[in-house]
Formats: sequence, structure tokens, C-alpha cells
Amino acid sequence: MREETIRMSSGPERQSIQPNRRSFLTGLLGAGSAAVGALLAVPLVRFTLHPVLASTTEKSWSDVGSAVYVTKDARGELVVLSAVCTHLGCSVPWVEKEKKFICPCHLGIFAPDGKLLDGPPPRDMDRLDTKVEDGVLKTQYQFFRQLTRNKEELA
Ligand code: FES
Repeated sequence: MREETIRMSSGPERQSIQPNRRSFLTGLLGAGSAAVGALLAVPLVRFTLHPVLASTTEKSWSDVGSAVYVTKDARGELVVLSAVCTHLGCSVPWVEKEKKFICPCHLGIFAPDGKLLDGPPPRDMDRLDTKVEDGVLKTQYQFFRQLTRNKEELA
């Protein structure tokens, strides 16, 4: 009886069933692969588009901390500089021996007032807005777009 069933299903009926099953499994595998690929692409797309789509968030005044430099400009006015390099965002240390800010990543060199002297950074160190309130220097911490000649606020 069983042999008969197998023989019966080995005719044209069997041929028409197998390709359908195969194409269903192929379609299922393709859809699953596409879904996994789409899920994996989401973080990559977000990472790629973030610099373009990032917008300014609310700013607030805060006491000057350690992530900035306070210096004077040519007129003797207090200036607060962001320690974030305008090239690719490394922290720019003050090098006392040279009396300059020197970025260790690609040797961007800045004068004591933040002016670009040499290296790949496209602009001077970024100045932050400041004010003195009750004798305390306050600043608005901000982030700016790197690799642009003009200062563009991000947050
Ligand atoms: S990150 Fe500062 S010079 Fe490149």
C-alpha cells in the first residue's frame, strides 16, 4: 500500500508539488535575509545620517568647568575655547613648553587665543558664549560640526 502511494505521487503531481515547496522555501529564505539585512542596516543609516540631521538642542548657562580653556584675546578680553578640535574632534591639550594648543591626533596647532596656526583643522578653536554672573564666569557648552570652515552649531 505504501509503495503504491509513493508510486502514485511520483508522477506529474509530485513534480508540481516539489517546485512549489522549493520556491516557497526560497522565498521564505529571501524574505528572512532581507529582514535581517534591513534590521542590521538601521544603525548604519542612523550613524551615517546623524551629522547631517543633528540639530541644535536647548542651551543653558553653566559654570566654567574643565572641558574648556579660558584665555584672553588680543584686546585682553576673556575668551572661553572649546577643547574639542575642529578637525576630527580630539581633545586639544595646552602644551606649556610650546605655549600653544597642539592637537595630538594630526598635529593641528593653535595660538593661545585659539587661532589656527598650522595643520589640518579647517578653522580656529571654537569660542563659546560667555557671561559673568555674580562674579562667576559662565559659558554655554556647545558642540560644533567638525571639518567645516565655518562654525556650525550642533548642540
Ligand atoms: S583631530 Fe585635531 S588635528 Fe585632527
